[in-house]
Amino acid sequence: MSSPAIVVDGLTKRFGAAEALRGLSFTVGRGELFGLVGPDGAGKTTTIRALAGLIDPDGGTVRVMDVDPRSDAAREQIGLMPQQYSLYGDLSIGENLRFFGQLFGIPKKLYAERIARLMEVTRLGPFMDRRADALSGGMYKKLALACALLHQPPLLLLDEPTNGVDPVSRRELWALLQEFVEQGMTVLVSTPYMDEAERCHRVALVHQGRKLADGPPAELARGYASFEELFIARTEEAV
Ligand SMILES: Nc1ncnc2c1ncn2[C@@H]1O[C@H](COP(=O)(O)OP(=O)(O)OP(=O)(O)O)[C@@H](O)[C@H]1O
Ligand SMILES: [Mg+2]
Repeated sequence: MSSPAIVVDGLTKRFGAAEALRGLSFTVGRGELFGLVGPDGAGKTTTIRALAGLIDPDGGTVRVMDVDPRSDAAREQIGLMPQQYSLYGDLSIGENLRFFGQLFGIPKKLYAERIARLMEVTRLGPFMDRRADALSGGMYKKLALACALLHQPPLLLLDEPTNGVDPVSRRELWALLQEFVEQGMTVLVSTPYMDEAERCHRVALVHQGRKLADGPPAELARGYASFEELFIARTEEAV
């Protein structure tokens, strides 16, 4: 049996007086669509930054695809779409993609094939010459997603990817994530939205740097009127 895609065990992280993570533990299986669900300040971004090897935890351990996320070996394993994604606003879609392609050292022929496929799935193809700062919120996110996927990572981390995105683009983004998972990718996505949590195979409910519960959303919601009711009840209990 292959090892899990993500193992987080007893993770703690403090920023001055703020305890962002207080002993967070969860596991994500290979090929899962996993939701990190919680309100503002729950610790979602801090967790994703630890998974991407961008911060040093104060305590606990993190493994992604069987490696330390801070090791060189992790780079090709992880695709990251941060909450505040900065693309080059004065570069076009095509130029941004070329920049990231070169950053990852993707050979020319492979690059052309991948771009063709990514432009097809994101439907950004007709807008290749448009400057990034002239894109709608949804298109900008799709470009960010395409940049994160260029090196074809087996694990994709997305931090609130649909924040500020219109409902149609939101649905399209989720359809894309589901397609990636069907092709074998592992996807971890953070969200404060209950309807998005319900689209995941499994979720971890996070509040004030701790996990309140985890499991398949329908199973967690059993005994409650809805998944949203469950979340509200559990966060109130935790206060
Ligand atoms: N660099 C930092 N310096 C100080 N405090 C921080 C820093 N990063 C995070 N925090 C604090 O840690 C806690 C968790 O923050 P985090 O950004 O991980 O939450 P989040 O779940 O991503 O929230 P949001 O939904 O608003 O993005 C918050 O109280 C936040 O203020
Ligand atoms: Mg965040």
